[in-house]
Amino acid sequence: MKSNEQWTSKLGFILATAGSAIGLGAIWKFPNVVATSGGGAFFLVFMLFTFGIGLPLLLAEFVIGRSTGKEAVSAYKELAPNSKWHYVGYLGMILCSILLSFYSVVGGWIVLYTIRGFTGQLLSPGADYGQLFTDTVSNPWIAVLSQGLFMLITTMVVVKGVKGGIEKASRIMMPGLFILFVILIIRSLTLPGMAAGLEYFLKPDFSRLSSEAVLYALGQSFFCLSVGASCMVTYSSYLGKNEPLGKPALSVVSLNVMTSLMAGLAIFPALFALGMKPVEGPGLLFMTLPAMFEQLLYGEFFIAIFLVLFLFATLTSAFSLLEIVVAAYSKGDSNKRVKGSWWIGLGIFLLGVPSALSFSGHPLFIWGDKPIFDWADFAVSNVMLPIGVFLISLFVGYRFPKQRLEQEWAYIAPGWRMGMHAYLFMLRYVLPIIVLIVFVNGIL
Ligand code: PHE
Repeated sequence: MKSNEQWTSKLGFILATAGSAIGLGAIWKFPNVVATSGGGAFFLVFMLFTFGIGLPLLLAEFVIGRSTGKEAVSAYKELAPNSKWHYVGYLGMILCSILLSFYSVVGGWIVLYTIRGFTGQLLSPGADYGQLFTDTVSNPWIAVLSQGLFMLITTMVVVKGVKGGIEKASRIMMPGLFILFVILIIRSLTLPGMAAGLEYFLKPDFSRLSSEAVLYALGQSFFCLSVGASCMVTYSSYLGKNEPLGKPALSVVSLNVMTSLMAGLAIFPALFALGMKPVEGPGLLFMTLPAMFEQLLYGEFFIAIFLVLFLFATLTSAFSLLEIVVAAYSKGDSNKRVKGSWWIGLGIFLLGVPSALSFSGHPLFIWGDKPIFDWADFAVSNVMLPIGVFLISLFVGYRFPKQRLEQEWAYIAPGWRMGMHAYLFMLRYVLPIIVLIVFVNGIL
């Protein structure tokens, strides 16, 4: 059944889609990888991949969703009846469920830190923030309850549907995110001694860029743009028939790169100005930020702002992860949406409990050399997303009905027919080969 839900406008679509894209990838993973993979050089390569490979893929998902007006599984079924292509939709649902299961663990930490920030319990001179982070994530009760709280907020918004829930929340959260970022960047760039951090982040040093980092940049560009999960198929299915596709896609990609840039500008100059070194690992933000803000005038206020922004970004991504599953179940039926959202939300919460308990130190939650949390991230980022991207690229390249692609192309780059052929060539040959290389390397 065709869904009767719709975004109220193009802007609503852009904000919700940018909301999905901008999240832990840009704010939590990105500074971490930059710190370890070559600073400015990594950023350049990441930008190249995001525009050169991520953008065409985002368009591919948009084309599938908008041309059918159906959530992911039904969309593939309509476009390729009597085939197995709709398994790409199921892959997306499973991927998003696993992704949300550990995403919500980090989301839970953010909720907790935000509460601490607002109640003045976060910053205290001389505190050991590394220890605070370890104590937080290793306490099983705290970890599971905060993860549950994050899932509860996510579900409460998705229950309300596309217009009244996701779009409404994104309309407030996304502009809020940008304003708050600007405040933080001004603060960071006006600190004495910030130049070293600026240089570290922006000056490309290609000697520090390993081949591994290049591969990582590609994976990061998929993760950051939410492509490969068919999430964007479902989101674009709520877009009106005559709305353009090209400009929104470009806006989303640009906003996403801009956020990564802003995250870097907010963090690195301040980090260096305060004489701290960028460290690796999931704790980077949680350990260095409080230490950083503690030394700033009005630090208590600024860290609360940062955490809210971080929470907004994470929530708007979580909405899209839950939405693809809920939409596949409810197929536009609002009664089914309400019931489905709660059950699916609960299911994903339970799925995430082992990830939440991963840092408790209990051997049950550590497999081989990695905690379950890391395995879930590995399965999604290094295995399922590349497979999804590979299949979607081939699907639109070979299987998508030509005539319909021509119709949609008129909303991407009207009048530029050559562009469509170049686009098809990319989807058929260039992207699958690049992705294959990355995939094999990622697995090894
Ligand atoms: N893009 C999101 C982020 O950067 C993660 C995500 C991936 C969301 C895939 C939906 C689908 O945090």
